[in-house]
Amino acid sequence: MRILLLGNSGQLGWELHRSLAPVGEVIALDFPQIDLTQAGSLRQIVRDAHAQVIVNATAYTAVDRAETEIETAMAVNALAPGLLAEEAAALGAVLIHYSTDYVFDGAKGSPYLESDFPNPLGVYGCSKLAGEQAVEQAGGISLILRTSWVYSLRRDSFVIKVRQWARQQPTLRVVSDQVSNPTWARMLAEITAQLLAKGGENVTGWLGEGRGGLYHLAGSGYASRMEWAQAILRYDPQPEEIVTRELVPALTADFPTPAQRPLYSALDCEKFSETFGLRLPGWEETLRLAMQAGQAL
Ligand SMILES: NC(=O)c1ccc[n+]([C@@H]2O[C@H](COP(=O)([O-])OP(=O)(O)OC[C@H]3O[C@@H](n4cnc5c(N)ncnc54)[C@H](OP(=O)(O)O)[C@@H]3O)[C@@H](O)[C@H]2O)c1
Repeated sequence: MRILLLGNSGQLGWELHRSLAPVGEVIALDFPQIDLTQAGSLRQIVRDAHAQVIVNATAYTAVDRAETEIETAMAVNALAPGLLAEEAAALGAVLIHYSTDYVFDGAKGSPYLESDFPNPLGVYGCSKLAGEQAVEQAGGISLILRTSWVYSLRRDSFVIKVRQWARQQPTLRVVSDQVSNPTWARMLAEITAQLLAKGGENVTGWLGEGRGGLYHLAGSGYASRMEWAQAILRYDPQPEEIVTRELVPALTADFPTPAQRPLYSALDCEKFSETFGLRLPGWEETLRLAMQAGQAL
């Protein structure tokens, strides 16, 4: 299987590069070899790759900056995925694309289903929703995997930040009114690879038998940022370095940001497990494994 991976230096893309290697021949490209804002060259690169599967791990993920860099956010998160889906459809290839819990407004109060109505609160969420719609409208075979609170131990993430703060501050104030599913980028990459392996050489036909479409795929269970931070401290492999003695709950409103975030954006991932017989493990056990693995990076 020939796989074109776009964005291999991002949190998820870096893990995908590793996880996809046993599944097929991976052609991995990142900025500046590809620039998702340059439609013409992007089309040509995709055509030249002759891939059976295109995995798009690129995204404009600067949620606050997106409020002012609207054009770039839309180009990368909305226009480029649509273009990739058009090219995939023309080539008879599968597109795997990732989206976000930020397409929701967080008002539901229980885990979101794929059938729930999206209502993004900021430019980032709007651009990602427009990307989902563009992929769907292109009409080819695609998987849109909506995920949430992605972290890795090698790029800037909430886990890295909490570990750093815990080495500097005796008291940490952490928001307790934001709830979602912490998701380790490595597990997300591995489940993507397993899914492709299940499809095998006929992955396009296999997904085309009613398996394509939109799925929620994130760490099982959910937590508040406060509970997540508590677990990060609990599983820190170097507890002797931690100077934090107290975690104090705070409200999102205490930390004003340019972009509004959904407060409750937990995702229900049952549809994915029922369709593919795969699920991401519980977020807390996964975090423990990630923290152990982080020592060896
Ligand atoms: N992070 C989260 O908490 C989260 C939550 C829900 C959903 N998601 C979704 O999950 C997916 C993976 O996210 P991630 O956390 O891995 O993101 P990430 O670490 O920010 O990686 C995004 C990648 O896209 C690249 N990129 C940005 N603009 C580009 C452009 N114009 N041309 C080419 N490449 C460009 C970035 O390159 P540079 O590093 O050079 O900018 C980076 O390699 C995305 O679809 C994201 O929307 C993420």
